[in-house]
Amino acid sequence: DNWDIKWAVGTPDLENLQRAATELRTTSIPVAFPTETVYGLGADATRSAAVRGIFQAKKRPVDNPLIVHFYSLQQLRTLLQPTDGEDPIPAIYKPLIQKFWPGPLTIILPNPAGSVLAPEVTAGLQTFGARMPRSLLALCLIKLAGVPLAAPSANASTRPSPTAAEHVKDDLDGRIQTILDGGPCEVGVESTVVDGLSSPPSILRPGGITLEQLRQCPGWENVVVGYKDKPEQGIQPRAPGMKYRHYSPKATVALYEAGAGQPDLATMLGYVGRTSRIGIIRTKLWKPACGLPVLDGSKNIEIWEIDLGAATAGVARGLFSALRELDKHNVDAIFVEGVDDTEGDIATAVMNRLRKAAEVRI
Ligand code: TXA
Ligand code: MG
Repeated sequence: DNWDIKWAVGTPDLENLQRAATELRTTSIPVAFPTETVYGLGADATRSAAVRGIFQAKKRPVDNPLIVHFYSLQQLRTLLQPTDGEDPIPAIYKPLIQKFWPGPLTIILPNPAGSVLAPEVTAGLQTFGARMPRSLLALCLIKLAGVPLAAPSANASTRPSPTAAEHVKDDLDGRIQTILDGGPCEVGVESTVVDGLSSPPSILRPGGITLEQLRQCPGWENVVVGYKDKPEQGIQPRAPGMKYRHYSPKATVALYEAGAGQPDLATMLGYVGRTSRIGIIRTKLWKPACGLPVLDGSKNIEIWEIDLGAATAGVARGLFSALRELDKHNVDAIFVEGVDDTEGDIATAVMNRLRKAAEVRI
């Protein structure tokens, strides 16, 4: 709670931060900023006009609630309206806050009667999601703005979340004015969303804090999974109108579950036709595609490959960026080597996003 801004007054960094904070306080155009998970698109969570600016810029459906970002526990407690010296933060969250804040964890809290939060933030729910990011730039911005910031990921709705300032520009150029550039995001997938108000507590979205980590906290040993990855599996390109698009590049994504083996060129062409541009994202075991057998008459096939490496944290960090990069090469289809998500680590979040992005699962 007691840290100070160390930069000298008058440096460009501080001036840009202050300008962004002023925009957040005084305008209704959202500001994009880095967090350790993904870039967020922030607005003053207490002003309806400002929050509506987020939905407009992203073209986000208004029934999807936003996470509210705080720079200190005191700022959160003030919003929760403490009575007679009692801590308004439910006890179940204490061990999580101690261990994981600031960090990639969002907790669901009751929205108090007469709350200062704009109703657009909660999309009509009696609860709201609260998070304290650990990116120093994000914390500075919230503190300087002097208000909690509602912020979804700063992508255009349905696109992969942005993990670099450039991604935000690609999606939202012309719709927003300011992006704070903090470099690439450290985690690469969004925060874990947990609900400790229900019993047993549940995970609503897998993310940067893992099931394994949650289970080590008192009261969270029996946390249940309260979300569903897309259940269908198998080769089934779906009717366009039925598509649930999320985290999606323009290309068709074919996800191979861990251990499903590597598709050969004939299989890939089966999905995309003979004159094609193909993207491949490798993780642990797949071999470079230059080693694949080439078919007669396949001269018009161009293949772009990205190797995310064998380490799961690296896969999480690079995943959204890889999908976006392959889109820039205008590939028709992207074949992705999935990772084993049975260990309760961040692979769970990776596979959750990939299953939502994929139209074809093998
Ligand atoms: O890492 C992150 O969480 C990023 C960065 C910018 O902080 N933000 C983010 O926001 O991913 P967004 O809007 O893309 O995702 C918010 C998620 C959604 O799945 C939403 O449904 C859920 O949080 N959520 C928000 N408020 C909720 C509530 N009251 N109850 C249940 N789920 C809620
Ligand atoms: Mg999002």
